[in-house]
Formats: sequence, C-alpha cells, structure tokens
Amino acid sequence: MRGFLAFPILIVLAHPAWADDAAMLELADKSRCTTCHDVHQKVTGPAWIDVAKRYRGDAGALERLVVKVRQGGSGNWGDVPMSPNKRVSEDNIRILVGWILALK
Ligand code: HEC
Repeated sequence: MRGFLAFPILIVLAHPAWADDAAMLELADKSRCTTCHDVHQKVTGPAWIDVAKRYRGDAGALERLVVKVRQGGSGNWGDVPMSPNKRVSEDNIRILVGWILALK
C-alpha cells in the first residue's frame, strides 16, 4: 500500500509537466492553495485554468509566478491580494506553478 501511494508522487517530482492530477491536488491542498483556489472556478483567487490560458506561450511566466506566489501580490486579477506563501518551499511552488501553467 505504501509503495503504491508513493509512486505517483515520484512521477510528479521527476516530471512536473506530466503531473498526475490527484497528486498535484493533494500537494496544493497540503500547501493551502486550495483555501483560495480551485482548478475550474474562481474562489478568492482566479481559477487555475484561467491562469494557464492567460500565460500560454509566455516563456517567462513560470519564474515570475513562482516569485509572485512566494511573495504574494495583487493587480493581475483584481484588487484582492494573494498573501505570501512563505511556508511552502520554493521547489513545491515551482512544481505547482508548472502544473498550473500546463493545465488544459
Ligand atoms: C489567501 C488566498 C490565497 C492563497 C492561500 C493562495 N492564493 Fe494564489 N492567488 C490569490 C489571489 C487573490 C490571486 C490574484 C492576485 C492578482 O490579482 O494578481 C492569486 C493569484 C495566483 C496566481 C496567478 C498570479 C498572477 O499574477 O497572474 C497563481 C499561479 C497562484 N495564485 C497560485 C497559487 C498557489 C500555487 C498557491 C499555494 C502555494 C496559492 N496561489 C495560494 C489568492 C490566494
């Protein structure tokens, strides 16, 4: 059972762009992103599918958004700010943002 559960997480770590949805949602949950975000619906923050659409083809988006998620900020989707997410490691933020940007 334990090995079975660890397998998708290894895949996610090795290949963020191919991320398994269930494992990524679990990471987003653990990182508390889902208190403000949903993949398909706007909550406090924008729907992640809309984030993916906005930045499609923007090569610099990943690095910019990693910094933005880490430090927080507002102005791209309205006046409501995203609070800083300093307790989430930069590696995990990069994995999450990479997955978000690849959503279709
Ligand atoms: C307290 C609520 C809250 C939490 C927690 C939160 N977000 Fe956000 N997020 C927002 C809001 C509000 C915005 C819109 C900010 C803006 O208008 O620029 C946003 C925007 C974003 C964007 C798009 C940024 C842009 O400039 O286009 C991404 C990507 C994102 N969040 C990812 C995450 C991830 C990953 C996590 C978890 C580590 C997370 N968010 C946690 C509220 C939150």
